[in-house]
Amino acid sequence: MSSKFIVRGGNRLGGKVKVGGAKNSALKLMAAALLTEETTVLTNAPLITDVRTMAAVLERLGASVRYSEPDVVEIKPSYPLYAEAPYELVSQMRASIIVLGPLLARLGRARVAMPGGCNIGSRKIDMHIRGLEVLGARIEVGHGFIEAYSEKLVANKIVLDYPSVGATENLLMAATLAEGVTVIENAAREPEVADLAKFLNKMGAKIEGAGSSTIQIEGVNKLHGVEYMVMPDRIEAGTFLVAGAITGGDVIIEDTIPGHLELVINKLRSIGSIVEVYKTEIRIIGSDSIHAVDIATLPYPGFPTDLQTQFMALLAIAGGTSIITENIFENRFMFVGELNRMGSDVRTEGRHAVIRGVPSLSGAPVKAPDLRGGAALAVAGLAAEGVTEVSDIHHIDRGYQNFEHKLRMLGADIERVGE
Ligand code: EPZ
Repeated sequence: MSSKFIVRGGNRLGGKVKVGGAKNSALKLMAAALLTEETTVLTNAPLITDVRTMAAVLERLGASVRYSEPDVVEIKPSYPLYAEAPYELVSQMRASIIVLGPLLARLGRARVAMPGGCNIGSRKIDMHIRGLEVLGARIEVGHGFIEAYSEKLVANKIVLDYPSVGATENLLMAATLAEGVTVIENAAREPEVADLAKFLNKMGAKIEGAGSSTIQIEGVNKLHGVEYMVMPDRIEAGTFLVAGAITGGDVIIEDTIPGHLELVINKLRSIGSIVEVYKTEIRIIGSDSIHAVDIATLPYPGFPTDLQTQFMALLAIAGGTSIITENIFENRFMFVGELNRMGSDVRTEGRHAVIRGVPSLSGAPVKAPDLRGGAALAVAGLAAEGVTEVSDIHHIDRGYQNFEHKLRMLGADIERVGE
């Protein structure tokens, strides 16, 4: 039974909200657990649909996975592990492709369904495949599957055409058990990549430079199980910062790492919000006059594409015209049509969106097109006049735990109802 959010706009948000564990780290740490036959325990793991899907993938590979407590995931990879990640799971979550590197490193073979595209773009994996071939893997792609084999992965120098997050992570994991020292150049610098490397080093890997463009991995024979706390979710934190800004509220985000959001904080200040930064907290005081700014999404430390739609909702009611350029995904403006149903004036031209600020948005029935677009529509509803109904909110549940509860704790008038 699909459900929807009913959002009554107009309340200024206030109070404190805790950020959960990062979806885009937890999923990779779960895949990395396959690199050892010992048990791994992840704490601060978000209870979200994508983590459940990754748990199902690991179980299909032969591991046992359980939430031993609300935010603790325990993973016991059995031996022998199976090597196939099936289409019905990979098609639910393209991030499942991240098991390719660990399976190849641990078993010497892997059969993973090709991840389809998704609403935001083609999501190719050519760099994953080419990098694994540089490490000595033989890879065939056919009939919707990737078949990879390697007697033993051998270290090498890999230069990525583009700092792909997933490709960096797949290759990083594969290289931990390859013979010799691998160097990945033009690697992704996202904090989640550094969190994965920290996790792997705790397992006994020898990785240096993660978080920079050049990562060096000295292969080892074996990795061991660990207990590890997932880093805070910077995109969840950014989403709540926008909720505070768009409602002219006064919100404190707790359990976050402000250093992961420097450029986002700068943008919020340019838009007119007051932002106070503390060690693990960020306070935002939204202003009633929102200034137009231009945003271009870029690989980290550039402006994160995963906050593009949320900022578009905020700029929709700015006094002036803003331009958002989406450089990462070729189709991440799906949400514009829905936002315009709420009275915004946004026109897209290829990778550019021109946002002419309007005095206010009006509540309307809208459909979440994807995870971040859905969250942005709910946030837009907080500031809209009247009632906004956001349907297809299963997209939002993929990446946000207790989304409406956290917003309600801040004073939002939002509830989940079954359709
Ligand atoms: C990760 O996706 C995140 N997902 C995305 O978050 C995030 O938007 C993205 O990184 C960028 O930060 C997870 O971590 C699970 P990429 P990923 O490989 O790894 C192209 C969210 O909302 N590309 O850096 O898929 C690709 O088509 C999600 O939480 C190739 O062409 O990102 C895309 O246009 C959405 N060939 C661009 O690079 C390749 O081999 C960025 O992809 C790989 C990627």
